[in-house]
Amino acid sequence: MKKFFVLAIVVVVSFVLAVSAFAVPAGKTVEYAGGAAGKVVFDGKAHADKGAKCADCHQSGLFKMKKGETKATMKDMEAGKSCGGCHNGTKAFSVKEAAACGKCHKK
Ligand code: HEC
Ligand code: HEC
Ligand code: HEC
Repeated sequence: MKKFFVLAIVVVVSFVLAVSAFAVPAGKTVEYAGGAAGKVVFDGKAHADKGAKCADCHQSGLFKMKKGETKATMKDMEAGKSCGGCHNGTKAFSVKEAAACGKCHKK
């Protein structure tokens, strides 16, 4: 019985580890075409290093936990959706700043 309990814990712990290993912050990136401004690479690790937690991006409603589910235009982001939930000049550099376009968009 005790053996079974230990095994159950091992299974749960490795499941949790596996989930976080597949999470975007664990060295994963998401690429967006980004239109004429050039492609955008979202780096999960860079964000985790800045202290961003899963809940800040997911439970907050900014992003679903599925690649390609959140479509947003720059207008949406300027209104605080998607990346603009943080990139608003308060929590991080703003999507409205001309000087910041090149921080996200690369040609
Ligand atoms: C700074 C924002 C941010 C943080 C923090 C973050 N994520 Fe994400 N996550 C994203 C974005 C952006 C996507 C892609 C969504 C899309 O394409 O619509 C994503 C996608 C995912 C996906 C789907 C991956 C796929 O291939 O479909 C999972 C699972 C996920 N995140 C889990 C997590 C977990 C677990 C954490 C915490 C350990 C976390 N994320 C933290 C922004 C974040
Ligand atoms: C925080 C990162 C970020 C910043 C800063 C940013 N963008 Fe974007 N931009 C994106 C992402 C991500 C997309 C793609 C969204 C999608 O496909 O869901 C995008 C899409 C676009 C598009 C495609 C059309 C549209 O409206 O969606 C254009 C054009 C664009 N950006 C121009 C700009 C310009 C000009 C600036 C500077 C004033 C800028 N972006 C700043 C992340 C950013
Ligand atoms: C939970 C808040 C949050 C969200 C959501 C978020 N960011 Fe960020 N991002 C930050 C913070 C904080 C920094 C670092 C502070 C700064 O440089 O102003 C940062 C830095 C960056 C950087 C520069 C660091 C690097 O080299 O990667 C890029 C590029 C970037 N974000 C792109 C994006 C894109 C694209 C999205 C949407 C897919 C996004 N971010 C969504 C908080 C966020």
